[in-house]
Amino acid sequence: MVGCASLLVASLYFVFATATPAASSTDDVQTAAATVVPIDNTTYFKYETVQLTDDCLSALDSSTAALFQFDDTDVTDISANLTRRTSSSCRIFPTDKSWPSDFIWNTLDWVLGNNALIKTVPLASPCYYGMYYNQAKCAALTSNWTNSYLHMTDPTSMMSPVYQGLTCEVTTDPTQNCTLGAFPFYAINVSNVAQIQLGINFARTMGLRLVIKNTGHDFSGKSGGAGALSIWTHNLKDVKYFPKYTSQGCGYDGPAFKLGAGVQAFEIYKEAHDRGLVVVCGEGQTVGVMGGYIQGGGHSPLSSIYGMAADHVLSLEVVTADGRFVTADFDQNTDLFWALRGGGGSTFGVVTSVTVKAYPDMAVTASTFSFTVGGNNGTITSDNFWTGVRNYMDYFPSLSAQGIYAYWFIINTSTGPMFLMQPFWAPGKSLADTNALLAPWFAQLNALNITFTPKTVHYDSFYPAWLASFPLEAVSKTHVATGSRLFPKENWSTTSKLDATFNAIKTSSQAGLTIIAFIIDPNLKNGGYPDNAVNPAWRNTYAHVLQSVNWAAGASAAVQLETRHNFTFGHMQRWRDVSPGAGSYLGESDILEPNFQQSFYGTSYPRLLSIKKALDPKNVFFAQTAVGSEDWQVVTANGLPSGNGKLCRI
Ligand SMILES: Cc1cc2nc3c(=O)[nH]c(=O)nc-3n(C[C@H](O)[C@H](O)[C@H](O)COP(=O)(O)OP(=O)(O)OC[C@H]3O[C@@H](n4cnc5c(N)ncnc54)[C@H](O)[C@@H]3O)c2cc1C
Ligand SMILES: *[C@@H]1O[C@H](CO)[C@@H](O)[C@H](O)[C@H]1NC(C)=O
Ligand SMILES: *[C@@H]1O[C@H](CO)[C@@H](O)[C@H](O)[C@H]1NC(C)=O
Ligand SMILES: *[C@@H]1O[C@H](CO)[C@@H](O)[C@H](O)[C@H]1NC(C)=O
Ligand SMILES: *[C@@H]1O[C@H](CO)[C@@H](O)[C@H](O)[C@H]1NC(C)=O
Ligand SMILES: *[C@@H]1O[C@H](CO)[C@@H](O)[C@H](O)[C@H]1NC(C)=O
Ligand SMILES: *[C@@H]1O[C@H](CO)[C@@H](O)[C@H](O)[C@H]1NC(C)=O
Ligand SMILES: *[C@@H]1O[C@H](CO)[C@@H](O)[C@H](O)[C@H]1NC(C)=O
Ligand SMILES: *[C@@H]1O[C@H](CO)[C@@H](O)[C@H](O)[C@H]1NC(C)=O
Ligand SMILES: *[C@@H]1O[C@H](CO)[C@@H](O)[C@H](O)[C@H]1NC(C)=O
Ligand SMILES: *[C@@H]1O[C@H](CO)[C@@H](O)[C@H](O)[C@H]1NC(C)=O
Repeated sequence: MVGCASLLVASLYFVFATATPAASSTDDVQTAAATVVPIDNTTYFKYETVQLTDDCLSALDSSTAALFQFDDTDVTDISANLTRRTSSSCRIFPTDKSWPSDFIWNTLDWVLGNNALIKTVPLASPCYYGMYYNQAKCAALTSNWTNSYLHMTDPTSMMSPVYQGLTCEVTTDPTQNCTLGAFPFYAINVSNVAQIQLGINFARTMGLRLVIKNTGHDFSGKSGGAGALSIWTHNLKDVKYFPKYTSQGCGYDGPAFKLGAGVQAFEIYKEAHDRGLVVVCGEGQTVGVMGGYIQGGGHSPLSSIYGMAADHVLSLEVVTADGRFVTADFDQNTDLFWALRGGGGSTFGVVTSVTVKAYPDMAVTASTFSFTVGGNNGTITSDNFWTGVRNYMDYFPSLSAQGIYAYWFIINTSTGPMFLMQPFWAPGKSLADTNALLAPWFAQLNALNITFTPKTVHYDSFYPAWLASFPLEAVSKTHVATGSRLFPKENWSTTSKLDATFNAIKTSSQAGLTIIAFIIDPNLKNGGYPDNAVNPAWRNTYAHVLQSVNWAAGASAAVQLETRHNFTFGHMQRWRDVSPGAGSYLGESDILEPNFQQSFYGTSYPRLLSIKKALDPKNVFFAQTAVGSEDWQVVTANGLPSGNGKLCRI
């Protein structure tokens, strides 16, 4: 509080002494309009102790303070004028008259401190003539473009360029224009909670579109949006270990980690390993497991034993749409707590940290193998191949009951479809147990003349097994759309039902689509799962199956639209037809999914929507297919689905 008042005297002088305040603040000043709450408060990370408070705001002159008001504060005449912006039918756009002046942006920049406000320069700018042109840099970017490590450290780059609008990709033609597309206009490189509060209050007051980027992995590009202000959480990396964390609310008394919203899979798996523990997080190396992943549910190599990642959350710290910083757990803000565990990112608030349960480390056996039509010197026939895949599906109930998570693919090759297992993941199983689990299916494959030598390795511990078994996945595909289905358990109840389900998948493969799938049954093995917003379809499945359609790179918008229409209402409909009423995983889904409310949220949707309306009545947070998004649309120039257009009320 003391620090806050004295800083603000300086800020007033500074803001009004010069029309263009300098971007930087002094070393000992992180954020101008912030109070540092006592850091011996064990609830918070240090970056969570730097908060925006009413006292800080009231020390500002009224016209500056009006830009950053909390939504629960009585509005003055100026903020009343500003509030009108939020009721206009579209979020303001850089070409609008009401777009904030440079002076106002500079005020935001100064108040944030720490050089946190970054005006977007697309990552691929060095590939285009202009002030950033640099052939060598462009070549380096091009060679790494499908590597997620490149994009996650950029303030705005997203790994799904299709939804960015494909405006500034790496290219060998520097004469093209590098325009922003769905990249936000500015990003706040967040290093404390006050900056998130300032960003939310500023966006709401000014009527700006607001987005949140963590790593940019989202399949539907939900970390971007044209003309937006972005809150970039990637650098919130703190980790705190609790050997014994007690939550009376859920009756837990055991090890836990409090993790910053920017912590990624490769980081927490290592942290846990060093303490002889595991956490329930994803297979993907670089996914932001404490951001969009866990808020969307989060499937894991441990899901067939422990359920979804969101099932293990003990507490979250969140900045809500009114700008306030709150804790959501089993005892306080319980609706918010329920919604944030499965109801999706970018909807209810900006999460700054998550406390999750941890479990004893475990041994894992992992097996990798493949077989291909035309393989083994042409001895694998198409009929035998598909019989072998169909045989495989019979084992999903018994394998998932044993805790198995199998990551499998059907990919077209020059000789025909290839089945790839990478890996068959057997947590807690010995080599002998794992071989025994696979033996009945392998015997059937051998009888079909499908022979191969699996690479099966036993690891004493989860982390080295995970490192060795899940290769880094390529991102930034420019001509692909993906959808997914959580096929219901009932479809395994009779041979004819499973035949129909299998045929729906086989037909997609034979039409040239890529199948990427998991054996998974995300329920606790000792029964049940916590009451949270995870899509109920997850509790009634043995398989999460994705399919992807390709079009020719650079295809016209008309061809893309037709391909996508055929995909959504043809190939995906075929899958829905054999699984009516089931669902789809919102984190790996088709942005055009019809009736997404039912598919992505199931019977939780009505409650999620009422929580959304209560906590974010002004729709400060928006992402396509997120809860409450049906009232808004992004209007794109070419009619293709992306974030590259104005965001308007329908
Ligand atoms: C290569 C790859 C591997 C994957 N592996 C898995 C896997 O093993 N299991 C699985 O379940 N999924 C997996 N996914 C899907 C992944 O869970 C989703 O893409 C998820 O949305 C990524 O979250 P993020 O925070 O890293 O990404 P972002 O794209 O940055 O964010 C995703 C969404 O969450 C919002 N968001 C991010 N941080 C916050 C925050 N702190 N507060 C509020 N909202 C926030 C964003 O606004 C956006 O809407 C994978 C995806 C890829 C591309
Ligand atoms: C930490 O501070 C917050 C807000 O001031 C308060 O609600 C919480 O009880 C404090 N926690 C501890 C352990 O002091
Ligand atoms: C609010 O808007 C009205 C009409 O545009 C204007 O006359 C008035 O001066 C504004 N008030 C403030 C405090 O800016
Ligand atoms: C880019 O690729 C080069 C070599 O291929 C590698 O050394 C470098 O670390 C990569 N950079 C990133 C950000 O992935
Ligand atoms: C790039 O933008 C400029 C200015 O809008 C325009 O004149 C030019 O035609 C564009 N170039 C290309 C290749 O689209
Ligand atoms: C973002 O801020 C962190 C400090 O929190 C700093 O290390 C990093 O370089 C900044 N990134 C960019 C792109 O400015
Ligand atoms: C394929 O045929 C070649 C040459 O006849 C032989 O050396 C090889 O072992 C065969 N491979 C398989 C998998 O049968
Ligand atoms: C396996 O190969 C043998 C030898 O070519 C052949 O006789 C047999 O019919 C094949 N079996 C099947 C199921 O295709
Ligand atoms: C799959 O199960 C669902 C019930 O969840 C059922 O409605 C559907 O008909 C089944 N599919 C087939 C092909 O029988
Ligand atoms: C599979 O790939 C081959 C070779 O590229 C191609 O000829 C064939 O049409 C593809 N099959 C499908 C179903 O797309
Ligand atoms: C879409 O499907 C229709 C009907 O099957 C087909 O004629 C058409 O070629 C497809 N279009 C594309 C772009 O795949």
